[in-house]
Amino acid sequence: SINLMSDKLNKAHQDLKRKNVNLKIVMSDLTHELKTPLSLIKAYCVGIKDGLDDGTYIDTIIKQTDNISKVIEDLLNFSKIERDEIEKTTFDLIDLFHSCLVKHKIEIETKEIDVRISNSHLHQLFVWADKEKIEIVFNNLISNAIKYTEDHKIEIEFEDLEQEIVFQIKNGTNVQQTEKIEKIWEPFYVLEASRNKKASGTGLGLAIVKSILIRHHFKHGVSIFNNQIQFYICFQKNPFNH
Ligand SMILES: Nc1ncnc2c1ncn2[C@@H]1O[C@H](COP(=O)(O)OP(=O)(O)O)[C@@H](O)[C@H]1O
Ligand SMILES: [Mg+2]
Repeated sequence: SINLMSDKLNKAHQDLKRKNVNLKIVMSDLTHELKTPLSLIKAYCVGIKDGLDDGTYIDTIIKQTDNISKVIEDLLNFSKIERDEIEKTTFDLIDLFHSCLVKHKIEIETKEIDVRISNSHLHQLFVWADKEKIEIVFNNLISNAIKYTEDHKIEIEFEDLEQEIVFQIKNGTNVQQTEKIEKIWEPFYVLEASRNKKASGTGLGLAIVKSILIRHHFKHGVSIFNNQIQFYICFQKNPFNH
């Protein structure tokens, strides 16, 4: 039993070490994320003091303070979600998905996006998960698809398998860096293409999605194929089989 305990301690130690490394990475990215707007604010303030303001400096300062607020707000939200316990219940995944999709109706219509759901005849697919957290996952994936689709199309699919329900969401993309795509799960990471277009946010959305899915032990992933980006999640079915 001493061996067993030492094994467990060792595992716990490894786990802590890994978390520590992750935290250090997040801290250094966060510092960078905050330093950039701060140094811009400083530079524009000095510019005003030196009489260089062409009438746009104050707007730049306001915009940069908004950026800082957004990073902090998103980070607080992230850390709250990380602290919350996972509370699993049984619920209908299709129903939850549709209620999330409806909330994005206006954006979908204004951007003239064609949303296709295959297997739409499927209803009442019960899963065993934390409903509130899965709602966060769906909202993030849907809003990303809307924000980043390059072909005005979003394809959604549910597949009803023996043990699990496989969910997929796809949209058109010009991103080609297939080998780097795994990085989009990291906090603050945004693809250069979307950063250039100023479409991206703080880059915490998918980090939240990943954290929720890992804590559920749900397999998930992203891939790029034929100018389409595809995200998938394998949801565990209700183990009690109602
Ligand atoms: N559906 C998608 N299509 C194309 N690119 C995407 C999609 N989802 C995410 N990305 C890329 O991954 C990055 C990280 O996404 P996310 O963590 O949600 O951050 P944010 O949306 O705040 O930028 C985005 O900035 C974008 O470059
Ligand atoms: Mg996002």
